[in-house]
Amino acid sequence: MRTLEWDYQYKRLKIIDQRVLPSQFEILTLDNYKAVAEAIRSMAVRGAPAIGVAAAFGMALAAQASSASTVEHLRKNLQVAAQLLGKSRPTAINLSWALKRMLAIANKPVEGVLELKERILMAAQQMADEDVATNRVIAKYGAELIADGDMIIHHCNTGALATVDWGTALGIIRLAHEQGKRVHVLVDETRPLLQGARLTAWELQQLGIPYDIISDNAAGYFLSSGKVHKVLFGADRVARNGDVANKIGTYMLALAAKDNDVPAYSVFPTSTVDLSLPSGKEIPIEERDAEEVLALQLRGKAVAPQAASARNPAFDITPHHLITAFITEKGIIVPPYEKNLAEKVAAQR
Ligand code: MRU
Repeated sequence: MRTLEWDYQYKRLKIIDQRVLPSQFEILTLDNYKAVAEAIRSMAVRGAPAIGVAAAFGMALAAQASSASTVEHLRKNLQVAAQLLGKSRPTAINLSWALKRMLAIANKPVEGVLELKERILMAAQQMADEDVATNRVIAKYGAELIADGDMIIHHCNTGALATVDWGTALGIIRLAHEQGKRVHVLVDETRPLLQGARLTAWELQQLGIPYDIISDNAAGYFLSSGKVHKVLFGADRVARNGDVANKIGTYMLALAAKDNDVPAYSVFPTSTVDLSLPSGKEIPIEERDAEEVLALQLRGKAVAPQAASARNPAFDITPHHLITAFITEKGIIVPPYEKNLAEKVAAQR
C-alpha cells in the first residue's frame, strides 16, 4: 500500500505507522483531523511530502465531519482545522504549502456544502497522486547522475515512506538500481529516531539494493577513504538563497563531503522551496522532546544517567555553498541558486 491512502469505503485515512517499523507493520486508521495532526506530531507519518499530503486528507476529514449548513460555515470549519494541522510540525514547508492549497480550493465558488466537501477530498487525492508522479520525474533526472558502481551515502529516510510513494533521494537510487546500475548505499543511521537504520534499511532490503548501515559519525571516515562517490539527502525547506533545512546531521555530512570533494545533492519537489525566506537563518527549526535522545538503551539499560538533560533539534541548516546541485521535478538546479531556484519555482507556480 501507499504510505497514506484514503479509504473510500469507510471515508477515513489509513497510514503506515512509521513509529513501529521495521519490527511491526501496522496500519493506523484516522477518522478525524485532530488524529491526523497527532499522527504528524508523533511522527507516525513523517517526511516532508508525506506530512503535506496527510494534512490535505486531514482537511478532507474536517470537511466530512462538519455539520455546516452553509458554505461560509464550512469554510470557517476548514480554517480552524488548517490552523491546528499547521501547528503539528514547524520545519517542513510542505505542510503549510498543502494547507494553503486546500484553503484556496475551499474559497473557490461552489453550489453548496456537498460540492465543497467533495472538492476538498478530490484535491487531497490529486495531491497524493501528484506526489507520486513528481517523485518519478525526480528519479528520472537524478538517475542520470548515478554511475554504475557508485557508493552513495544517504541520510535519514527519503524513500516511499517519506512520501506518498516511490520517494525522492531514495527513489533516485531505486531507479538507478532498476536500470541495472550496481549501487551500494551507506545508510546513516540518523540519530535520535533512526529513520535511516529503521526505515531506509527496511526499504532498501525489500528493493534488493545492497547497503550497510553506518553510525552517523562514521560518514566522515568513509568520505575521506576516497571510496564514496556521492552523498544524497532530501530537504524539508529550502530558502531563497538555496540554504537547506533537512534532518539533523545533514550539515556535518555536507561539510565532510565538501572537504573530500564528494558531490552532495539535495533532492526535493519544488513544493519544498520557500521563496519568502531569504536564507536558512529564517527557517524555524523544530526542537523535539529530550526524551527521544535519552531513550537510547544499551544492553537493555538506559545509556544516560537518570535525570540527565538533553537537547533534540530535529533539523539543521546546510548552507547552499556546500551543496553541489538540487535534483527536482523541474530538473537539476545548479548555482547560482538564488537566481536559478526562483526561475524554476516561479515557472512552476
Ligand atoms: O523528522 P522527519 O523524519 O520527518 O525528517 C525527514 C527528513 O528530514 C527528510 O529527509 C525530508 O523530509 C525529505 S523526505 C523526502
